[in-house]
Amino acid sequence: MDAFATEGRSCANEANPPRGAPLFKKGGIQGGFWCGALEQHMNTATDPKAFGKVAVLYGGWSAEREISLKSGATVLAALQRCDVDAYGIDAGTDVLQQLARGKYDRVFNILHGRGGEDGVIQGALEVLRLPYTGSGVLGSALTMNKRLTKVVWQQLGFPTPPYVVVNRDTDLGAIEEQLGFPVAVKPTREGSSIGISKVTRAEDLAEACELGFEHDDTLLAERWISGGEYTAGVLGDEALPLIRMETPRSFYDYQAKYLTDTTRYHCPCGLPADQERDIAALCWRAFEAVGASGWGRVDLILDERFRPWLLEVNTIPGMTDHSLVPKAAAAAGIDLETLVMRILATSLKEGAQS
Ligand SMILES: Nc1ncnc2c1ncn2[C@@H]1O[C@H](COP(=O)(O)OP(=O)(O)OP(=O)(O)O)[C@@H](O)[C@H]1O
Ligand SMILES: [Mg+2]
Repeated sequence: MDAFATEGRSCANEANPPRGAPLFKKGGIQGGFWCGALEQHMNTATDPKAFGKVAVLYGGWSAEREISLKSGATVLAALQRCDVDAYGIDAGTDVLQQLARGKYDRVFNILHGRGGEDGVIQGALEVLRLPYTGSGVLGSALTMNKRLTKVVWQQLGFPTPPYVVVNRDTDLGAIEEQLGFPVAVKPTREGSSIGISKVTRAEDLAEACELGFEHDDTLLAERWISGGEYTAGVLGDEALPLIRMETPRSFYDYQAKYLTDTTRYHCPCGLPADQERDIAALCWRAFEAVGASGWGRVDLILDERFRPWLLEVNTIPGMTDHSLVPKAAAAAGIDLETLVMRILATSLKEGAQS
């Protein structure tokens, strides 16, 4: 088991909210959208049968298939424990026929990576007029592409590390010139740290790029930010408590995410409450700015001067027993069943599919 610190906040007050209080909520804690449309839907949907027949889409064909199978099993079991009429579908090339044949009322989409998290399946579900959880076509497509996400963030003034776009014909010398070392070399459209390397010297760049090119035609070389690694879960119009991840490995790679027991997850994250709130608010706004909605996760690093640098948005983050959103939700007093029901309710939100 990974170590997961969930010490409660010692003293609830304005600067130190009680367990269960949202860290950030659009429109403020007292009012705002959450108290409107979605909450109404939540109330009308307290009867799990009101969701109708639900298809849980998992698996798929991306490099993150194995993780999605695990996330899917977790989600399906939790929905069924809540008496939702839910069925699992391992999404293959016949996924649309399966959905049409099964006469489903809505989809809980827990496909990670390309094909499932990038607007492709979302567009197809729109054609089928099947409501689905999470972000719509635009937010899914944009955030699957780390380069375009950063372009939008930079344009809007959100802090994200400087980078160089790397194609097969890029002069690698430009990376050292523009960024120095170390850099993160990463595929533009991948997840779970697949194909990512930390490169500390020029002679290792070509090998890191070769690894990246196994996963995508375009890579990013991004300035390496040394500091603490954090993630902000988003649920509806709320930001969940931040989690700080700590690994003895050189970064939070695939091993650290899914395979080793040496990763530590700190929640509360250890930041002063007002700073945590500011960063949660920044992450929520950065999430909304790229068209994401419903639920997800924003990953960031705080440098040595505690300045935040946004790395990326995940619109369908992991739901395995190692995953971060369930941990952050638990720290906010939201158990797995409540979490999956709230995510399912995002399929009711009008305009979620825009
Ligand atoms: N610029 C950077 N500076 C420091 N560390 C970085 C940087 N970019 C990536 N990393 C490290 O690599 C990890 C994965 O990076 P990133 O979140 O961009 O990729 P991902 O594969 O999409 O991850 P996810 O599993 O969240 O989908 C980060 O959690 C961090 O440990
Ligand atoms: Mg990440």
